[in-house]
Amino acid sequence: MIKKLRKAVLPVAGLGTRFLPATKATAKEMLPVVDKPLIQYAVEEARAAGIEQFCLVTGRGKTALVEHFDIAYELEATLKERGKHRELRDLRENHLPPGAIATVRQQEPLGLGHAIWCARAFIGDDPFAILLPDDLVLADTPCTKQLADAYYETGGCVVAVSEVPHEQTNRYGILAIGHDDGRLVEVLGLVEKPKPEVAPSNLSIIGRYVLMPQVMEYLSRMERGAGNEVQLTDAMAKLIGQVPFHGLRYEGRRFDCGDKVGFLEAQIAFALKRPDLAPAVRAFLKTYMHECATPAG
Ligand code: G1P
Repeated sequence: MIKKLRKAVLPVAGLGTRFLPATKATAKEMLPVVDKPLIQYAVEEARAAGIEQFCLVTGRGKTALVEHFDIAYELEATLKERGKHRELRDLRENHLPPGAIATVRQQEPLGLGHAIWCARAFIGDDPFAILLPDDLVLADTPCTKQLADAYYETGGCVVAVSEVPHEQTNRYGILAIGHDDGRLVEVLGLVEKPKPEVAPSNLSIIGRYVLMPQVMEYLSRMERGAGNEVQLTDAMAKLIGQVPFHGLRYEGRRFDCGDKVGFLEAQIAFALKRPDLAPAVRAFLKTYMHECATPAG
């Protein structure tokens, strides 16, 4: 029997050192793409896949993330008083039902696998999704919904995958693949951040997963992997052969918002998707590129 997918874990304990000084006193997951913080994109994407319960794995200095999903009474009252109905409606759409968000703390940065393991009591015996908020996916059907649909087809674990340039395999979890129908790929092996010379393919995992709760048993061994961290990829690899395990070539475009260029690309791409902003942004890009190409003087 394939259990319904109701839970998601969002690891948000990272320090965001790549975005200093912006992240000195602010969680990196609160950085906005256009006008919405990264964390909200992740929660909305999960909700669109039927997720009802969220576990944020947080750390020191991350309280704004939890505040963000609270009801801001004074703000709502002021918006109402000023007749700002659209803003009020948008804010209310962000409300989650009482009790839908839980938090656990990851006290030490021991790796993604360790962060996920911190949510073990929340997960219990249930399948769960993981969304890494740094990875933002622009797609007609939200990426986690595509994964959930694939999970209901196949059962077991499903991870979102895309091809990367061969020289970049050392930045990602990489698949060794079996049967491949162009959309769903059978996973035969997983390696975290292999050098291009030893990478089994150039099919990489992006930050979207549907996993079985058994992964927690392997994570609890706290074996260190690449970068001397407890790697989620290594624990997932142990499930191959025990449960069905597939990669899904999702439809959409991924932006690595943990990287400065990726983050800027996301701003432009998401702004160009917004009917209220696209014409002005497109016009600016066109003239600005022209100005930059023309030598001053
Ligand atoms: C993590 C995972 C890696 C995955 C990547 C996707 O790496 O460990 O397997 O490919 O996210 O963004 P990180 O980016 O945290 O180094």
